[in-house]
Amino acid sequence: MVYKFLLIEDYGSFQVVTINRPEALNALNLVVFQELKSYLIQVEENQKIRCIVITGAGNKAFVAGADITEFNSIAPGEAKSYLSLGNEIMQRIENFHIPFIAAINGFALGGGCELALACHMRIAGEHARFGMPEINLGILPGYGGTQRLTAVVGKSKAMEMILSGEMINAQEALQFSLVNKIVAVGTEVQMASDLAQKIATKAPLAVRSIIKAVNYSHRNTEHGIALEGDLFNSLADTDDFKEGTKAFLEKRKPVFLGK
Ligand code: COA
Repeated sequence: MVYKFLLIEDYGSFQVVTINRPEALNALNLVVFQELKSYLIQVEENQKIRCIVITGAGNKAFVAGADITEFNSIAPGEAKSYLSLGNEIMQRIENFHIPFIAAINGFALGGGCELALACHMRIAGEHARFGMPEINLGILPGYGGTQRLTAVVGKSKAMEMILSGEMINAQEALQFSLVNKIVAVGTEVQMASDLAQKIATKAPLAVRSIIKAVNYSHRNTEHGIALEGDLFNSLADTDDFKEGTKAFLEKRKPVFLGK
């Protein structure tokens, strides 16, 4: 299958998926999510694939978030349905029968950080930067970030990152277990592929069971994600959200009025 924004490389026992929108720093729009959904359905039918590496095109960004241009055109009251496909993808990845390894080759912001968090492991280049900048748009992370980030880095660090919107570097991400390993710039996919190849030799039924069992330790996430969705929906109807996205696109600082 040929995708507009996904590149798929097949290595027999594992595949490398590249989100390919470098002109927008690989931001996640609805077409990317639709293509990821088709891809996941295809992989479900392919017994040969035992692990997936996911990365972003170029060397500047893994994924710089949800597509803010698209965000800007969400009609009043439609934020929840807009979010639903992305949330479905994040949940499908998290609960997939084979592991996803994120090869983080630059910025992993907002939806990009949330995508990395939905993956089972994360390998980051030395230049990688992580953050949840949604607060700067007058919203909150809407793809499960409030729940998955907190589960991974703990409440204090999650609060700091989500409330300040500031980025952390790869070293700090390692310190807070946000990444499994830091590798030299340009080797992220290779190092993730080495790990994928290793996992691909393991017993498939055991791998599937391990993912289920480990995920069970965070089984309350679903309620948190539903609450996050409701809160996102209300925030998406505010003037502050309109101002935040408009200011980003106009490359200026937003002025929030709390309305
Ligand atoms: N959605 C849509 N377009 C995006 C994007 C996003 N999330 N992130 C970056 N882009 C686009 C920029 O608009 C720019 O497009 P242009 O060349 O047509 O102007 C291009 O990608 C390059 O980004 P730019 O901002 O010029 O690069 P930079 O090196 O100055 O800054 C970032 C890099 C990642 C710090 C900055 O792009 C950024 O803050 N992005 C948004 C992150 C964000 O808020 N994500 C959460 C969204 S919910």
